[in-house]
Formats: sequence, structure tokens, C-alpha cells
Amino acid sequence: MPFPIDVALTGDAPFALSGATVTGDPDAAGQLRALVRTRTGAELGAGDDIALTVDGSGAAESYRLDVSATGIRITGADAAGLFYGVQTLGQLIRREGDSWVVPAVRAVDAPRFAYRGVMLDVARHFHDVATVRAYIDRAACLKLNVLHLHLSDDQGWRLELRSRPELTATASATAVGGAAGGFYTQDDYRQIVAYAASRHMTVVPEFDMPGHTHAVGLAYPEIAAAPVVEVITEGSIPVAGEPYTGIGVGFSSLRIGDEATDAFVRDVFTELADLTPGPWLHFGGDESLGTDPEDFARFVAQASAVIAGLGKTPVAWHEAGAASGLAPGTVGQFWGFVSPTDAAARHARAFAERGGRLILSPADAIYLDMKPTADSALGLTWANGPTSLARAYGWEPTEVVDGVGEEAILGVEAPLWTETVATLDDIDALAFPRIAAAAEIAWSPATGAERSWESFRGRVGGLGPLWTNLDIHFPALEEVPWTT
Ligand code: ACM
Repeated sequence: MPFPIDVALTGDAPFALSGATVTGDPDAAGQLRALVRTRTGAELGAGDDIALTVDGSGAAESYRLDVSATGIRITGADAAGLFYGVQTLGQLIRREGDSWVVPAVRAVDAPRFAYRGVMLDVARHFHDVATVRAYIDRAACLKLNVLHLHLSDDQGWRLELRSRPELTATASATAVGGAAGGFYTQDDYRQIVAYAASRHMTVVPEFDMPGHTHAVGLAYPEIAAAPVVEVITEGSIPVAGEPYTGIGVGFSSLRIGDEATDAFVRDVFTELADLTPGPWLHFGGDESLGTDPEDFARFVAQASAVIAGLGKTPVAWHEAGAASGLAPGTVGQFWGFVSPTDAAARHARAFAERGGRLILSPADAIYLDMKPTADSALGLTWANGPTSLARAYGWEPTEVVDGVGEEAILGVEAPLWTETVATLDDIDALAFPRIAAAAEIAWSPATGAERSWESFRGRVGGLGPLWTNLDIHFPALEEVPWTT
């Protein structure tokens, strides 16, 4: 999981893990040792039963795996490919009588899409570095390679900036429902980025603007417009200058066309670019219902140009496609439904028409914060929820937005908004097992004998023991025949 391009049993006897040894790439060997220890309790010694190498040949992130009774070879085209081969090996370990074995298989594998993401909203509820690291581990073992961090919203600003110290000093202390807030120091953020890199994940940071900025107004009231409370359909009513702990959306806006706002945008993205080694900076752009449309277009043109001028690729939610001045090459993140409205499809297409590509995050399929079942304690339902695992799996990226085919699609991302999500257990309860559907849609070929709901649900069930060993508190959805 996700299903490889090509995998077959060879008919040879299985490889016995008892007393086995590993050699080769030290990072991958350390990761395999940890995985085998977690799964079986056994320690791999030093030696050449299992050989892990990077040979520089093949597609980016690809690997080959060869298991026989006498040995295991994993060859990655690059370090990421080798890491993914190790993850596949981890999934193959099983119990046979009293021993742990790996069935004799040969696999050749490479990803379909270059961008395979998850998003964690750390604004509605703050999630500390340890929790973020745990989510990175969870995502990476499914061959996901991007962590999008939603670092600011009406409820709080979550990253320390030297240029704008008031953001964390006055706008980070609270969260939804009055929960404690928090923020990442620059050192925390660097640690997250480095930990993600060690799992071959790139961090895509987002400061959401010009809407979703009530918290900015606590720190810098001169650049915040008055809340437009008429747009709120859910949650409590915001008051300018007071922390917002409700879950309403769309009411806040920066003041557009003001030199102080322009300076703010330049400062925050310049510092974010300095802190971020990855190629993408996300500037939000969603649900700016409290922003005049002309001002919105002006803001999108400005923010995307600032980010492009910093040498980064701007990313924005699909509404930003409405702005004719969007910087060429900006990546769009589509969050409409699998059958989009005309406006959402038009806005998404606009990115491709301007030389950018699309990340697909259809809300009624892979918004992980939707309830998985009607009786789930956590989660929301606004995106046609509850969203079953079958629905999360049952969509095809090239069939969402007319005119946006394989070439125009950068990848797939499963967001987890955190209005109802306060702890790692809450994350597990909503993300699992649907995160596996996102991973397979992002990685595996679109067609093939095993790209079916029946195959997928069986393979999800087969991961239950591994996920249990990894201390993932997944809900045992009735859709899945869980292996015990
Ligand atoms: C979004 O769900 N507002 C991107």
C-alpha cells in the first residue's frame, strides 16, 4: 500500500527474518532496523542478508525489491526510492507459525505523481513538534512526500517571525473552543523541516491571506479590515481585536491597497522563504468572502509576484484563479467537490492556462476532517459528509476538472483541518485509514487488476497489525476486513 507498478510472488520459499543481517546505505539500514524492531521485536545484525543500495538509475523515487529465500535486495534510484522500498518491505513482514518471514516477491515501483501530500491545520488547534513528527512518520510510510502546514488562520498565527514579532506575541495564545494555542519557534520549524527531509518529505508552509486573517488583526490592527459578520453561517461572531475561538469562516480580510499591508506581505513571505528549503510557499487565497473581488484580485497578483520574486513557486487555493494578475506558474490547489461547480472548475483551470499545475484535494473525497461515519465523535460533515473510505478511494484525478489532465496535475493532497482535532489520537481517528486512499491515488497507476475497491479494502485490512505495532490508533471501520 500504495499498490506497486509491478509486483509478483516468485514461488521461492520465504525469507526468514530470524537472525538476519543488513548492509548498505546507513540511513536506510537504520530505518529498516527500526521498522523490523517495531514490527517483530527482533534486531537485524550487520551483514549482507539484506542489501540496501542507491544506484542512480531509474525514475525519481523509484525502487526495485527482490526477496528470495536466501536474501533481500532493495535498490533505489535515489535515497527516497530506497526509503520507499524499505517501507514496502516493512509491509510484507508476516508471521508464519513461530517465525517472522518475508514472502519471496519481486517488485518494480515508481510514483505516478511527484507531489503526494497531506496538510495539517495547526491554526484551529495547535499541534506540537512531537505530534507533527508523528504525522510525518505516518504519512511517509505510505510514500507521501509533502507536508503542507497551514500556519495561520483566524484563530491564531503559529510561526515566529523576527520581522513581525507581534504575530506570535499577541496572536498565538488561543485556539478553537478556547483551547491553548501555541507557535513554532524558528528552531522548532527548522526541526520539523529537517525531520520531514529525513523521511523524504518536503514542507510546504502556508500563511493564509487575504481572508482567514483575524489573528493578524490582533497583532497589527492597522492592516486588518473590520470583520464582515454577515457571511458567518456557523460558529460564534468575531470581534475586532479579540481572539476568535469559533469556527466561522470568510469574515476577515487584510486591508488591500495599503502600503502597510504590502510591507507586511513582503516581510512575512521573505522570512518564510529564508526559513524554507522547499520550492513552494502557499499564500492561501480561499474563502475571502470579506474581501472586495477587485481588491482580492489585486492582492493575489501582489502576493504571487512577491513569492515568485523570492525564487519560490507560489501555491494558492483555487479561488485565486479568479485573479487575472496571478503570477504565471502559480500552483493551484483545488478543494471543490469531485463534481465541481462551474466556477471552481474555471478557477482551477486558470492556473494551468497560466503555466501552473494543479494539486487535487477534492473536499468530498479526501478532506480527512470529514466524519468517516455518521456516528464518528470527531469531524465535520459540510463537504457532503460523512465520507466513507470507499468514497475516499473512488475518484480519479484526471476526471475532476475538465481540461485538467495528467500533464497539468502536479499531484494529490489530503488536508486535515483541525476544528475538532486536538491530539494525535484525534488525528489518527480521522486520517486513518482514509490517508491510504490518498496515498494510493497519488502513487499507483490509475488502472490495473489491483486498483479496485475490493483489492484496496483487503490490503488496508492487511495493514492493521503493522499500524497497531506503529502505535497508530486507527478506527476499525466496518468497511474493512481487518487482519488481526
Ligand atoms: C478550504 O477548505 N477553505 C481550502
